[in-house]
Amino acid sequence: MCPHTSQRQTQIESARDETIVITGAFSYTGKYAAGILLDRGCRIRTLTNRPERENPFGDRVVTFPYYFDCPERLTEALRGASTLINTYWVRFPRGSSTFEAAVQNTCTLIAAAKKGGIKRIVHVSIANPWLESPLGYYKGKARLEQVVMESGLAYTILRPTVIFGLEDILINNIAWFVRHFPVFGIPGDGRYRIRPIYVEDMARLIADAVAQEGNAVLDAVGPETFTFEELVNLIAGQLRRRIRSVRVPAAAAYLATRVAGWFVHDVVLTWEEYQGLMAGLLAPQGSSTGETRLSTWLAANREHLGARYASEVARHYALTPPPSFFRKC
Ligand SMILES: NC(=O)c1ccc[n+]([C@@H]2O[C@H](COP(=O)([O-])OP(=O)(O)OC[C@H]3O[C@@H](n4cnc5c(N)ncnc54)[C@H](OP(=O)(O)O)[C@@H]3O)[C@@H](O)[C@H]2O)c1
Repeated sequence: MCPHTSQRQTQIESARDETIVITGAFSYTGKYAAGILLDRGCRIRTLTNRPERENPFGDRVVTFPYYFDCPERLTEALRGASTLINTYWVRFPRGSSTFEAAVQNTCTLIAAAKKGGIKRIVHVSIANPWLESPLGYYKGKARLEQVVMESGLAYTILRPTVIFGLEDILINNIAWFVRHFPVFGIPGDGRYRIRPIYVEDMARLIADAVAQEGNAVLDAVGPETFTFEELVNLIAGQLRRRIRSVRVPAAAAYLATRVAGWFVHDVVLTWEEYQGLMAGLLAPQGSSTGETRLSTWLAANREHLGARYASEVARHYALTPPPSFFRKC
């Protein structure tokens, strides 16, 4: 047996019968990680903003609201579990849902985990977080890494770049624009790089980290790196679309996505996301931790990719808020 297979087997064995709390088990990355852990015999609880949402795992996953306003109830939701997997974050600030609020909520969650007897935290961060970053996303994520490391819990911190898959937003929406418009505006010189990881590879890293010992910080990156322009052309090629990619100043590209956002009722890409992308923050160096090649995956999924626009706002903001009795102490 190859050493990787036996290591994976040991991880699967030791995870069996454990109770794991995972945030967002009905959302994107969390859903794939929950699926793997259920297959490995774990008991799963999830925390979510929408406990009333259809549960794809049936009674195999027990659901709790986030209870950020009520740390005692949050602690009870975590009590008896061995590991907390935290995927919770906000992609951009909107209304009261700010990066600062997300940092505060995550601190509440980590404190509740400690109080509830959690031993290990698997925390999903971002590639290239930085405490001094002018970008709120990267700064907030760096602050939370610090909180996780100082929590006293054993931890694995995973730092993904863009996570691609059927429910992904960024790559899907590039494909949507490619399908609908003959011209694609490439912000700046288009030479900044991006190194996406497949959602199932990301989920496997999360699931494997549950059974790891000690502390680790790991970039979650795929085997292929593209410049942004190459990525757009690759997508267009897979969709058999002849587009003209035109280099435009970043501010003009941003303005165009703002206008497009009015039509699709979404925030297509924030100015911060443009800055992070163009600064090359989505392409850390080092060996790959994901196996799936985006180019291969695109070829196999070309008819689904970009067939529908994927809206962050519809996914996380255009929701009927849960009844207040659900959320308060
Ligand atoms: N997706 C990517 O390409 C990517 C790239 C780099 C890093 N990451 C990081 O990976 C983690 C998982 O990302 P994901 O895309 O898989 O996230 P997700 O599943 O869409 O959301 C993860 C959790 O955060 C909650 N959440 C998301 N947006 C929210 C909002 N605006 N207000 C309140 N709660 C919100 C979700 O709530 P519900 O349970 O109610 O849905 C869910 O519990 C995040 O920490 C993210 O920063 C993702």
